[in-house]
Amino acid sequence: MDSMRIKGGKPLTGKIHISGAKNAALPLMAASLLTDGGLTLSNVPHLADIATMANLLGQHGVSLGLNGDHKNNGHTGRVMELKAEKITSITAPYELVRKMRASIVVLGPLLARCGEAKVSLPGGCAIGTRPVDLHIKALEQLGAEVVLENGYIHARAPKGLKGTQIVFPMVTVTGTENIMMAAALAKGETTIVNAAREPEVVDLANCLVAMGAEIEGIGSDKLRITGKDKLHAAHHDVIPDRIETGTFAMAAAITNGDMELIGGKLAHLNSVARILAEAGVSMEETPQGLRVRRANGLHGVDVMTEPYPGFPTDLQAQMMALMCVAQGASMITETIFENRFMHVPELRRMGANITVHNASAMIRGVPQLTGAPVMATDLRASVSLALAGLAAQGETILNRIYHLDRGYERLEEKLAACGADIERVREAA
Ligand code: UD1
Repeated sequence: MDSMRIKGGKPLTGKIHISGAKNAALPLMAASLLTDGGLTLSNVPHLADIATMANLLGQHGVSLGLNGDHKNNGHTGRVMELKAEKITSITAPYELVRKMRASIVVLGPLLARCGEAKVSLPGGCAIGTRPVDLHIKALEQLGAEVVLENGYIHARAPKGLKGTQIVFPMVTVTGTENIMMAAALAKGETTIVNAAREPEVVDLANCLVAMGAEIEGIGSDKLRITGKDKLHAAHHDVIPDRIETGTFAMAAAITNGDMELIGGKLAHLNSVARILAEAGVSMEETPQGLRVRRANGLHGVDVMTEPYPGFPTDLQAQMMALMCVAQGASMITETIFENRFMHVPELRRMGANITVHNASAMIRGVPQLTGAPVMATDLRASVSLALAGLAAQGETILNRIYHLDRGYERLEEKLAACGADIERVREAA
């Protein structure tokens, strides 16, 4: 298994190009199942999770082409052409779903297009149990018969789905996406109340509209979708990754650097920018993206994760790494996932002073972290340890970095180009 060797203490300066958003690209790729007309996506990031989704769609019968590069602010993202002329399999097998929970987003489109879908139940993961009961219940409300058998969700709607009102008792991102896609081909009107408002949900809605869907209330917590008999071909440009942007913003802050994040969108990071400003880090818009640097000293601030537009849970671990070296104390409360403090013991091994009580972590800033061998447990926890390593004195060896490759495109190259002393150590075959 590869690892990452980081020698900390270098302020990061320069420009980083932000890639297309992983969490937007995955459901967008699944949306190709809704039409035989073809879907072209540009600014698709080059990531392990994208390859997993490509494999999954391939075995459903989607033909897939990677067609050259698309220039976005001078950065080349890939153009992906997906065509689901005929769905050859309605089953999303365990071997692929267990690699990536987001595979669940094929459930809604397959069911809507074919009247039947069989998707392996995603298991628990490092950050919590993460059930998909709300997806299933909402599909049942749309008229599907769903049984759980042999570890699979088997959903059937031979006469098609029928629009209705769905009220989500809690905000679910992929749940909203699944139902929005299913409703796009259902009969009549579907209303989703308490819909997720994440920019990735908005991006999917905009793409569905380009494919001929009728959706009102995009960007709000109430979506009204009028089903169509058929959707058609479309081209869509994936939004920049706000989590990657936020991660690099924290890299600039933790190393006392000065970075421009090309393509980064402040509009998608308002809550993060507000918290960072309170902590003493400025995030200003530039003609090409965002400039991030410390305005003055770094101070401890309190943070609570919330559904969008609140502070994203996917930046909680990175924020904690930053708070480890701030002056004063910080309280970070995680409200989305029950077990998302797996980075805490590893940060402690680097000298951080953190105590956890239930869903809150109290971080007392220390003047200096020290490098250590550490182990990554999930995607965002891994990158928080990389950030801590960039600020620490001495050498940090980050193990199990396959998590990083799932969600960060060429992380070490992008950081090294800004002056970080970081390298991938390939395990001898
Ligand atoms: C998506 C993101 C993930 C992010 C998360 C929260 C993708 C591919 N992944 O995950 O990076 O961390 O949003 O912003 O976009 N829940 C239920 N039952 C359900 C569905 C969800 O109880 O049927 C709970 C979850 O366990 C969790 C909360 O609802 O506690 C929010 O989860 P959800 O928004 O669904 O997360 P994902 O869509 O899986």
